Amino acid sequence: MPPKSGAGTGTWNSGRGPSKGATRVNILFVSSEVAPFAKAGGLGDVSSALPRHLHALGHDVRVVLPMYARVHAPGRTFTEVVPEIVLDLGGNRVLVSIVRTELPGTDLPVYFVRCPGLYDRPSIYGYARDEHLRFAVLSFAALAMCQHTGFAPDIAHVNDWQSALVPLLLKTKFAWDQRIFGRTRSVLTIHNLGHQGTFGAGVLGAIGLGDVAGYVHQDELRSDRFGFLLTGILHANAITAVSPTYARELMTPAHGVGLDPFLRMRADVMFGILNGIDPTEWSPETDARISHRYGVDDLEGKARCKEALLASGGLPHKKEIPVVGIVSRLVWQKGFDLCMGVLPRILRRRAVQLAVLGTGESRYEEFFHALSRAFPRQVVYRPAFSENLAHQIEAGSDMFLMPSRYEPCGLNQMYSLRYGTPPIVHATGGLVDTVRPWDGRARRGTGFVFEHFDEAGLAWAIQRALDVWGSGRGEDRARWRELQANGMRLPLSWEHRVGEYLEVYRGILA
Ligand code: ADP
Ligand code: GLC
Repeated sequence: MPPKSGAGTGTWNSGRGPSKGATRVNILFVSSEVAPFAKAGGLGDVSSALPRHLHALGHDVRVVLPMYARVHAPGRTFTEVVPEIVLDLGGNRVLVSIVRTELPGTDLPVYFVRCPGLYDRPSIYGYARDEHLRFAVLSFAALAMCQHTGFAPDIAHVNDWQSALVPLLLKTKFAWDQRIFGRTRSVLTIHNLGHQGTFGAGVLGAIGLGDVAGYVHQDELRSDRFGFLLTGILHANAITAVSPTYARELMTPAHGVGLDPFLRMRADVMFGILNGIDPTEWSPETDARISHRYGVDDLEGKARCKEALLASGGLPHKKEIPVVGIVSRLVWQKGFDLCMGVLPRILRRRAVQLAVLGTGESRYEEFFHALSRAFPRQVVYRPAFSENLAHQIEAGSDMFLMPSRYEPCGLNQMYSLRYGTPPIVHATGGLVDTVRPWDGRARRGTGFVFEHFDEAGLAWAIQRALDVWGSGRGEDRARWRELQANGMRLPLSWEHRVGEYLEVYRGILA
């Protein structure tokens, strides 16, 4: 069954703001990542930009995330809000405190759950032994914070499996508190079905849900499984996916990663809403992280950014040779296995350079290391997480490669559109909703899209991009400018998206 039309199924040109005189909504926004405090990928960007835009429209938004070790950066100050909360999680009594600060550049309050034993570690994820407890505590603590501060949310908006217990907790453990939660409705946003937070059924007692096991999917329990995300899917009042195409895909066996039957069951409350770009972070006209600024009417600064990028990577610069950029987590989802066969062949045959930034699975890191050794004048690879270099690659590259196997939304292709760096993408999820194939005759389109996820498909798309680039001079250059301008002019900012979330909120509050 397709997702419900209306609020969520538009693409990037259908966003609307909230209507004038609309009432203020109290929004509790819970996430395991919020940039700039803690970010592993796009979830961090979204959990910063969406609350910021809701807050700017006058809604009362409170963001909650764990106090990881990395949150303590020089110059950041925190105020203690609740010195001590004892969370009674059945077998575990967990002591937490709540501190707050503001999202930089705003007065939007961000609350941190302090629990050094669970969160004071170098990385955000990856602690298999107590991962269930770490993120169960996040859901419990977010609701306890509301009680202790007297914040009565209309909407509890949670994200991915790490905060997906909130909808169930609202119906069970916290239901007695009508003063605070009497009106609260929940929204679960699915950013990536590939991560479901599935544990053995034995964790139920340890996370304080032993006495509400009747609310949990019984067949799963009998199969000795308990899924955080599945529990959220069953209990949220509304579910959103981060693009209209992904909202349709995830209800199919091919993309549902085993949860598609449950998602189909909830199709009447499922919406696809495309992510947006935060213009305060990603605008080539104002970006402080790049060497030269530029806009659609004057791309001279972009040419300077290309020179600077190649110089910093130790590669020779020639205006006519296109640079392909990659900024990514190097994981299975992102489709780099296809690159292993295709890129060496293309680098050997065509005049093209490659600037790669990313860390992840060792097989991909080793591949890009080997590629830069085999083509030292064409390829530079930095195995790092660097916000500055990510911006410099978006600005300094001529094309951007994102061959994702699946992609719920994807932000990097939108950043590259905004930066005049046409993307080369696989036709999946949000990539379908944001990148239109270049049509040379009609002079329409914004990038290069391959349908079949195989080496031939990827090779075709890269070759096509290089052919359209042509000589990089004269008429070829003028044509490329049109392609760039088409992408740079798209209305991709969050301001065009935020109204769609408000419609979902209002739909379940009515
Ligand atoms: P995902 O969330 O699946 O990783 P997205 O495209 O939605 O994919 O978002 C990725 C975000 O993470 C972007 O903001 C991108 O710039 C950033 N990012 C990914 N890898 C790196 C890296 N190595 N250094 C800096 N930023 C990175
Ligand atoms: C996930 C998805 C990505 C999406 C991001 C933010 O990490 O992999 O496609 O853009 O979340 O919603």
